[in-house]
Amino acid sequence: MSNLNLAQRLARPELLDLEPYQSARRIGGRGDIWINANESPFNRTELARLNRYPECQPPELIAAYSKYSNVPAANIVCGRGADEAIELLIRAFCIPGRDSIAIFGPTYGMYSISAKTFNVGVNALNLSEDYQLPSDISGVKGCKLVFICNPNNPTGTVLSVERIEQVLQQLPDQLVVVDEAYIEFCPENSVAKLLESYPNLVILRTLSKAFALAGARCGFLMASTDIIDIIMLVIAPYPVPLPVSTLAVQALSDDGITNMLADVALLKAQGQRLAATLTDLGAKVVPSGANFLLVYFDDIAKISNGLKDAGIVARAYRDPRLVDAIRFSFTNERETDQIITVLQQLLA
Ligand SMILES: Cc1ncc(COP(=O)(O)O)c(C=O)c1O
Repeated sequence: MSNLNLAQRLARPELLDLEPYQSARRIGGRGDIWINANESPFNRTELARLNRYPECQPPELIAAYSKYSNVPAANIVCGRGADEAIELLIRAFCIPGRDSIAIFGPTYGMYSISAKTFNVGVNALNLSEDYQLPSDISGVKGCKLVFICNPNNPTGTVLSVERIEQVLQQLPDQLVVVDEAYIEFCPENSVAKLLESYPNLVILRTLSKAFALAGARCGFLMASTDIIDIIMLVIAPYPVPLPVSTLAVQALSDDGITNMLADVALLKAQGQRLAATLTDLGAKVVPSGANFLLVYFDDIAKISNGLKDAGIVARAYRDPRLVDAIRFSFTNERETDQIITVLQQLLA
């Protein structure tokens, strides 16, 4: 046992002997006549090679994300959104009926839903009053995976790199999964630079938010190669459709990144305008590092109904910590004007 690495020690033991599915694309080959994957020889589309299965991990996509994130290609896996990465981690590391994950709520719902669908326990701990990690995190003891969402959805609050580094140091035998789905809105808070130093760190990223590709379903998991090796045992043979990787590579080109940065600046400016208005109107606005604001209202029913009547679809919650709050995603200037007008009427 002693010469197993951290990822192998934490992985579901039966996976260590598993031979992953050998897809035709993984096996590869040389030649001109490809009859090894029961594909059609006819491409009926304008997209080159759409009649062929894609690469499991399209090299151009991994290279593009590596360049963008400054993380080596060997430490990156791509899949169908960050949601798939959450599921892969749970499937790879948690023994159903025995293991648990830890979360700090209120937070993104899919960690616990994914765990529950695999009969994996959820140790639901609380963030502090101001939505920071509690000073004592001993409650995560025994959990294989500790999920930390930064910036946190739905509060928008941000944890410092130093605080996350402390957690990584305190939990050397557990995997600390930092979900950076919204990190483009506060890039200085990314822990990507800690990947080299902490074999227990996993980072989740997505193109669904700042990169404006939610409909494409493309996300990334970044971690040590030991963890990546385990994830590759459970990943689907072809997780990223060819048109998706083509779009994603464009989004990660120099022009794509320039557009993304412009969108982020525009959305943040609109968010600041919305936050200033709501604060002036007496609502409690939670400071946000993401592309949304969580706002608490005295008369939540009036605001919810008023927004609904105005055709504004914002997010309300049943969680007792959030029943008086609404989450507003940032949007363009015209829609922000409309939202502000409606809120001014409702809070006048
Ligand atoms: C914190 C967080 N992580 C992950 C996701 C899922 O991202 P994806 O669209 O890449 O599956 C979301 C989506 O809302 C999110 O808020």
